[in-house]
Amino acid sequence: MADSQWLLPALLLLFLLLRMDSILLRTASMPPPSPVTCNSPGGDGCILRNAYGAWNDRLDCHVQNVTYPSTEEELRSAVAYAARSGLNVKVVSKFSHTIPKLACPGRNGSADSFLISTANYASTIDVDMTNLVVTADAGVPLRELIDRVEGQGLSLVAAPYWEGVSVGGLISMGAHGSSWWGKGGAVHDHVVGISLVVPAKESEGFAKVIRIQAQDQLLNAARVSLGMLGVISKVKFSLERRFKRSITYNFTDDARIEETYMDHAMKYEFADIAWYPSKHTAVYRYDNRVLLNTSGDGVYDFLGFQSNSVVVSKSVRATEKSLENARNVDGKCVLASTTLGYKKLIANGLRNGLIFTGYPVIGHQGKMQTSGSCLYSPPSRTDLTCAWDPRVDGLFFYETTAIFPAQRFAGFIQDVKKLRDVNPENFCGVDIYNGFLIRFIKASKAYLGQPEDSVAVDFNYYRANDPSTPRLNQDVWEEVEQMAFFKHGAKPHWAKNRKLAFLNVRNKYPNFAKFMAAKKQLDPQNMFSSEWSDEILFRNEAAKGDGCALEGQCICSEDSHCSPAKGYLCKAGLVYKEARVCRYTQSSEA
Ligand SMILES: Cc1cc2nc3c(=O)[nH]c(=O)nc-3n(C[C@H](O)[C@H](O)[C@H](O)COP(=O)(O)OP(=O)(O)OC[C@H]3O[C@@H](n4cnc5c(N)ncnc54)[C@H](O)[C@@H]3O)c2cc1C
Ligand SMILES: *[C@@H]1O[C@H](CO)[C@@H](O)[C@H](O)[C@H]1NC(C)=O
Ligand SMILES: *[C@@H]1O[C@H](CO)[C@@H](O)[C@H](O)[C@H]1NC(C)=O
Ligand SMILES: *[C@@H]1O[C@H](CO)[C@@H](O)[C@H](O)[C@H]1NC(C)=O
Ligand SMILES: *[C@@H]1O[C@H](CO)[C@@H](O)[C@H](O)[C@H]1NC(C)=O
Repeated sequence: MADSQWLLPALLLLFLLLRMDSILLRTASMPPPSPVTCNSPGGDGCILRNAYGAWNDRLDCHVQNVTYPSTEEELRSAVAYAARSGLNVKVVSKFSHTIPKLACPGRNGSADSFLISTANYASTIDVDMTNLVVTADAGVPLRELIDRVEGQGLSLVAAPYWEGVSVGGLISMGAHGSSWWGKGGAVHDHVVGISLVVPAKESEGFAKVIRIQAQDQLLNAARVSLGMLGVISKVKFSLERRFKRSITYNFTDDARIEETYMDHAMKYEFADIAWYPSKHTAVYRYDNRVLLNTSGDGVYDFLGFQSNSVVVSKSVRATEKSLENARNVDGKCVLASTTLGYKKLIANGLRNGLIFTGYPVIGHQGKMQTSGSCLYSPPSRTDLTCAWDPRVDGLFFYETTAIFPAQRFAGFIQDVKKLRDVNPENFCGVDIYNGFLIRFIKASKAYLGQPEDSVAVDFNYYRANDPSTPRLNQDVWEEVEQMAFFKHGAKPHWAKNRKLAFLNVRNKYPNFAKFMAAKKQLDPQNMFSSEWSDEILFRNEAAKGDGCALEGQCICSEDSHCSPAKGYLCKAGLVYKEARVCRYTQSSEA
């Protein structure tokens, strides 16, 4: 404890200095590693990982063979090869930015599993100026798509905040930004056509491309398909005339979030709210369109997605670890205050020009919606990466994203506030990251999209390197998680979350049966299913073993599901009494 007293301020100073350095130099960083590594090129024995280097169950995904088609015909023949040979198939993008192991093919180890990567299938982006649509190959990176359409005087209205995703991957998982206006914040609701490669009869060559149009019922199955229907080869998005946005962040108190969130979403086209419970702070994003001739050439380069010096990432992680080991909540709160103060100072990464000089920040849609400067590299700067790069012992965290029917969100906020009021400091661990990021998603016709206007909330929290290590205040995150998914009717974001969030997920989607009917029609042999996608979609109750609740593999019902040896026992929630959480209980050590 004694040394962590000077360690913390020293590290914070270092953190800030190096941050300034990377901001002023505006350097880019080493690109993320390829998600696929093979022993022998193209041969047996490849491992697929996600961009964090760990799936939600931490088990590596072994695949027998990987292929990298670069044209639609090559994609078709890869599916034909798999169909002819009776292989299980999944697709992965060049990025693999999804947390659940849905891109992992196979049922029984790596045998008979085949992976198709879209990393090299990214050459075509066709902009149709007359119809205001763009059609892109599935592997096209979101940033390239946006830059191309902006260059033609058009804008894509919705996108996730993170640009390190592919066109095919992002729609597959229901990725969203934030909006209740127009077609809404989910990207798949701006999709007006999808080409899908599906298995076919021998007489048709074992695989075929089907072109699903805007008016086809099938589009509602294909908009959000979790990679379960076939390989998406092309996606057609609707666009609008290029526009600008004007953004102001209001760092204020959190007293009335539960009363104001709906008005906020209705008043601002791209509204969101970042809530830092331990600091009683809510940051309202006032964000609307302005005329294209409004002056301003601003950029949103979100702090969390900027390049990080490897030294900083390691120091921050080391600090967090030492605070965890020392059970030092105060230290976490210092870190949370510093981070929040810094975010306020730099407006989360908004810049009017070279730096942030004041609100509002006005800029083009293409520069304001989504960011990810840590993705790009001069190969010379190997000392800079994305903060979570698995090659560096940097940030390692969970990400829970719960999506609520709009009306039910108020009850959730009230419950979280009650839990916060028990001891606000317990929430510092989440405020070190981005607090609770609250975003808006409009009702969708997609069978696996949101059936009603919804509110999505994301929060990140410390994940231990060793899965058997319990974490400081983990009972709090577990209670919030169970409140969201089992009390207030939230659905898990398909691309995030720990396993328990998916319990009974199929019963939360009124059109789930329609999705499965489309799957049966397009993929009668279940080629595009796997042990891992079955587990997410169909599991009712997890198999429980020692320590299973520590990493969200199960909900504890006995102490052994937590870590009795380290003083963590299975207890009831403090506010949501039905919750079962692993809580540090000192008496057990006596
Ligand atoms: C730092 C970070 C920030 C994020 N921010 C947001 C956010 O603001 N909003 C949000 O909604 N999400 C967000 N996400 C989640 C992200 O949008 C999704 O994980 C997205 O699906 C990732 O796209 P990808 O191209 O990496 O897909 P992958 O992870 O490679 O694939 C995702 C799934 O789609 C399938 N798939 C991929 N391509 C195809 C294809 N061509 N045909 C058929 N199936 C395919 C895969 O099998 C897999 O099941 C974020 C993720 C990260 C890492
Ligand atoms: C890998 O897949 C390709 C088809 O893309 C096939 O031609 C090749 O034989 C496969 N290799 C192995 C080792 O299975
Ligand atoms: C699983 O694969 C192994 C070989 O990898 C094989 O021996 C076994 O029979 C398979 N089991 C099933 C149920 O297919
Ligand atoms: C910020 O929000 C508060 C309410 O919490 C409001 O009183 C204040 O006027 C807002 N500030 C700006 C600049 O809009
Ligand atoms: C901006 O454009 C609008 C119409 O598109 C026009 O009415 C307005 O005068 C223009 N403003 C400036 C400053 O050019």
